[in-house]
Amino acid sequence: MKYHVKSLKLAEKGRLRIEWANEYMNVLSLIRKHFKKERPLKGLTVSCCLHVTTETANLARTLKEGGANVILCASNPLSTQDDVAASLVKDFGISTFAIKGENNKIYYKHINSALDVKPNVTMDDGADLVSLIHKTRKDLARHIIGGTEETTTGVIRLRSLEKTGLLMYPIIAVNDADTKHLFDNRYGTGQSTIDGIVRATNALISGSKFVVCGYGWCGRGLAMRARGMGAHVIIVEVDPTKALEAVMDGYQVMPLKEAAFQGDIFCTLTGDIHVIRREHFLAMKDGAIVANSGHFNVELDIPALEALSKKKRKVREFVDEYTLRSGKRVNLLGEGRLINLAAAEGHPASVMDMSFANQALCCEYIAKNHRKFQKKVYEVPEFIDANVAKLKLESIGVKIDTLTAEQKKYLESWELGT
Ligand SMILES: NC(=O)c1ccc[n+]([C@@H]2O[C@H](COP(=O)([O-])OP(=O)(O)OC[C@H]3O[C@@H](n4cnc5c(N)ncnc54)[C@H](O)[C@@H]3O)[C@@H](O)[C@H]2O)c1
Repeated sequence: MKYHVKSLKLAEKGRLRIEWANEYMNVLSLIRKHFKKERPLKGLTVSCCLHVTTETANLARTLKEGGANVILCASNPLSTQDDVAASLVKDFGISTFAIKGENNKIYYKHINSALDVKPNVTMDDGADLVSLIHKTRKDLARHIIGGTEETTTGVIRLRSLEKTGLLMYPIIAVNDADTKHLFDNRYGTGQSTIDGIVRATNALISGSKFVVCGYGWCGRGLAMRARGMGAHVIIVEVDPTKALEAVMDGYQVMPLKEAAFQGDIFCTLTGDIHVIRREHFLAMKDGAIVANSGHFNVELDIPALEALSKKKRKVREFVDEYTLRSGKRVNLLGEGRLINLAAAEGHPASVMDMSFANQALCCEYIAKNHRKFQKKVYEVPEFIDANVAKLKLESIGVKIDTLTAEQKKYLESWELGT
C-alpha cells in the first residue's frame, strides 16, 4: 500500500481520536453497518480529497466497508491531523497522502498520487481533484462514473465548469443538501471558527469588536456564536438581502473600510478573493487579529500585507505578527488558511455525521444510478436529505409529529379554505 504521512508512530493517538469521533457519528455508523452487509461500492476505486480529520477517517472507513478501494489526500495544506493520517494507514489500511504544513509542491504531488490509482469516483472538498483532472489529467475522466463535492467554494467552481460545457463527468453537490449546509456550515463553522481563533490567540471574545465578512451560512453561524460570547459583532456584506437580514438579526452592518478602524478581530467567510486588502490592513488598530474561515486563503490579500510590512515574526504557533511601516502590528492567524482546521480540530463530529452521511449515501447513489446521469452538477436527491434528517433525529432521541390524514388532504388541496 502506498502512503505518505508524517509518522506511523502517531497512529495510536489517532486511532483513539477516530474512535472518539465515531461515538458522535451515529448516522454514519448505521450506514457503515448497511454498507458492510450490502457492499454497494464493491469494485470501485474512490479517491477522496478531504480535510484529513477524525471525521473524515470515519467516512473513509465507511466507504471501505462498502467495498471501495479508498485513497485519501488532503484538501488543504494546513488541515491535516497527522495522527489521524497515521492511523488511517496503520490501523485501517487506507492509502493516505497528507502531512500538516506540506508545501504547495507536495500538496499537489499528494493530489496526483490520489489520482494515479485511476479513480471511478472522486470526492472533493474544494474541487481540487476535479480541477486537476480537467486541467492536466483529462485521460482519467473515462474511468470516472461520478463525483461528489463537499463545500460551497467547490460547488461554485463546478457550476462555472458546467457552464462552459467542459465538465467531463456528473457530480453531486453535497454542500447544497439541507442536512449539510444548514448545519455543517452554520453550526459547525460557527463553533469551530471561534475555537480556532481562541486556541490560536487565547483572546477574550467578550467585549471585543468582532468583524464577520460574509453573512452566508458560515458567517451567520460565526456571528451568532461570537455574539453569544459577548462580542459586539459587525457584519460586512455585498448582498443587500443578506445585509438586511443581518440588520434585522440585530447586528451592526457597515462597509469594511469603516469596520477596519473599529475591529479587534476580523474573520472572512465569503468564498471570495481579497476581501480584506491593503487599505483595510492600513486602517486597522494596532494588534488587530485577522483570520479566514472560507475555503481558500485568497480571501485575505496576504501578499499586500507582506508588502506593507517591515517585519514579520511568529509570536505563537498559529500567529504571525506583521509590523507595518507605521509601527502598527497586524496578527495573521494560521497563514490565512481556514482557521477552524488550521488551529483547532474542524467541525465537531456530531455535525460532520450528517455531511458525511450524505457523502456516503451519494456515493452509493452514484454506484447504482450513474448510467442515467449526464455531465452535470446534480443536487442531492431529496430522499437522501430527508433520510439523513430522520436518522439524525432518531439517533439523538428526538421524536416529532406526523401529519393526520385530514391535514395531508388539506395541505394537498387547493379547494379547501376557511
Ligand atoms: N471553515 C470551514 O470549515 C468551512 C465549512 C463550510 C464552508 N466553508 C467555506 O466558507 C466559505 C463561505 O461558505 P458559505 O456556505 O457561508 O457561503 P454562502 O454563499 O452562503 O455565503 C457567502 C457570503 O459572502 C458574501 N460575500 C461575497 N463576497 C463578499 C465580499 N467581498 N465582502 C463581504 N461579503 C461577501 C456573499 O454575499 C454571501 O452572503 C466558502 O469558501 C466555503 O467553501 C468553510
